[in-house]
Amino acid sequence: MQNKQTKICMVIGDPIKHSLSPKMHNAGYKFLGIDDEFFFSSAKIPKDKVKDFIKAMRLVGFRGVSCTIPNKVEVMKYLDEIDEIAQKIGAVNTIVNNNGVLKGYNTDWLGVVIPLEKILGSGGLEDKNVALIGAGGASRAIAFGLKEKGAKVTIYNRTLEKAEKLAKELKVKFASLSKIENVKNADIIINSTPLGMGKYIDETPVPKEFLHKNQICFDIVYSPEETKFLTDALSKGATIIKGKEMLVYQGLEQFKLYTGKNLPFEVMMGALKTKNLTIKNNMLK
Ligand code: ATR
Repeated sequence: MQNKQTKICMVIGDPIKHSLSPKMHNAGYKFLGIDDEFFFSSAKIPKDKVKDFIKAMRLVGFRGVSCTIPNKVEVMKYLDEIDEIAQKIGAVNTIVNNNGVLKGYNTDWLGVVIPLEKILGSGGLEDKNVALIGAGGASRAIAFGLKEKGAKVTIYNRTLEKAEKLAKELKVKFASLSKIENVKNADIIINSTPLGMGKYIDETPVPKEFLHKNQICFDIVYSPEETKFLTDALSKGATIIKGKEMLVYQGLEQFKLYTGKNLPFEVMMGALKTKNLTIKNNMLK
């Protein structure tokens, strides 16, 4: 039961009603028996209301705020401090209120690095050839994380100029999506485009013939849980990582920042299993 001292956390974005964050975090509070101390909600906040929302956050004293589309960059203007990594990525997905001081963080990159290191071992990304497909909002944090861990990243994108811009900023390689056959030489392939979801549900960015059993294939699309890209990868004997894992690992890092406590992976993952994942937008972008 919540009380006067309950610390409120929430996710803000637009659209917001499909966000899974409230379910994931509230399941964690319940599991740890701190559901009288913390409560997680959501609010539909378009970009032009972010400034007002941050004022309200200070006024009411919300403990933590998760940011999703389209607020991850906009919110940075109104914070007191920004963590060095979030600054480098250029986006904030987590705000912590420490006695009135609002500090921004980014946990999206950990959502990719942690499941990969679970397979490869700590330090296992060093010198791995990674093909990152897409150069949009989500790709930024992913490319940063991979680079940070010493991977050799090539960004493939439909619009070459966008790949070039991001690649130059992060000092990694880039290529056009029309050169996708070169992913044959990649150890890890990551899809960060909407191909495989919504109206692109039957599509994949990588023709099956370029996949093989020594690769790790990671799709950040989590609805459907197993995209065409992942089904193809499995049929070739590759190791797959589903988008849900990224969602959970970035959420666990947020949970730690808001509560100071570690939560078992299975608790947040379990919370997702109780919901039919029919989401139109990937809320991680
Ligand atoms: P953002 O993440 O900036 O909101 P997005 O429209 O969701 O952008 O697209 C994310 C990435 O998916 C982009 O790299 C985009 O490629 P472009 O830069 O060429 O737009 C890529 N993408 C979106 N739809 C695609 C499609 N049908 N085929 C190939 N790539 C696509």
